[in-house]
Amino acid sequence: NKKLLVDVDCGVDDAQAIMLALGDPSVQILGITCVHGNTTVENVCKNVLRVLQACRKLEIPVFKGADKPILGTSISMGNFHGQDGLGDAPDASAPGLDLLHRENAVSALIRIVDENPGEVKDGEELGANCITVLSAYPESVSASQVSLVATGPLTNLALAVRMDPSLPGKLKGLYIMGGNTESRGNTTVCGEFNFAADPEAAFVVLNDYQCPTHLSCWEFTCYSQLPWEFCDAWLGQDSDKARFMAKIFHHSMEEAKKESLQDACLGCTGFISCDSYAMAAAVDESFITETDRYPVSVELTGTYTRGMMIVDTLGLLKKTHKASIMKKVDLEKFKKMLMAALK
Ligand code: BDR
Ligand code: CA
Repeated sequence: NKKLLVDVDCGVDDAQAIMLALGDPSVQILGITCVHGNTTVENVCKNVLRVLQACRKLEIPVFKGADKPILGTSISMGNFHGQDGLGDAPDASAPGLDLLHRENAVSALIRIVDENPGEVKDGEELGANCITVLSAYPESVSASQVSLVATGPLTNLALAVRMDPSLPGKLKGLYIMGGNTESRGNTTVCGEFNFAADPEAAFVVLNDYQCPTHLSCWEFTCYSQLPWEFCDAWLGQDSDKARFMAKIFHHSMEEAKKESLQDACLGCTGFISCDSYAMAAAVDESFITETDRYPVSVELTGTYTRGMMIVDTLGLLKKTHKASIMKKVDLEKFKKMLMAALK
């Protein structure tokens, strides 16, 4: 089983990413942590519960996290995802926030990673008594079995590493939707939304998470679009999940089809599910077929460039840690994963 923790600002593409992971029986989502971003953190929590209800997976624990960035106030993604983040589609049967776990998202991230230690060095998997084994033989245990997928602003992750600096070293992998490689913004002139919404948090994460880090950046997602005909077939499947997705996706699909948005999306004329690429890579790393590996950071002070990702191709930042920046992926595999998600 692949064990994932997922940190989201649940808009429509976050919902698609969660459903993509749930569509693969080899994946176990250990928890979903919520962060401000596409909408308020309260709406994000509601949206995650709605997605889990649609997938009959309400047993997955959901935790509320940061309601604003580390500095300043939240920025808005406009009305792209609708005011409520899920296309403002009425839903009388939406589960209540009483289903949220009381623990906050940051402490849940740290705890769940600790509760899922890696393999004993001789290859034997730790069972239910892992904590006992860990405290008795700490040196016999490698990192955790958990990979973290982040598809919103990185506020919760930044707070988590400040609370527990050993957290990144325990992660199997970190998969992020965020940042940009060609200084093309989708929110500010040079800023991709998730990084621009909390540049300080993105800075902390890119500098302090020294674990295998995979970035799915804005331009790459635009270049990896799928045709709208695929989207029609995807939503046209005869299932409750497909009907749920068609309902919440209607608003942003109409927005995305507008000519005015095509320029902002680098000429994209098709369907982009931004957050699903990072999730697909976490679910099956063979989905990634070409990457660049460079040290990365984030601009914090520029007049126009605050929130823009820096790719240090010259090695001038003298950082030893390099992130894997996704360049090409297996789109046929992606289509299969998306189709399975709504079956
Ligand atoms: C990112 O911003 C959000 O609107 C999407 O959910 C995605 O995570 C794209 O820049
Ligand atoms: Ca998102």
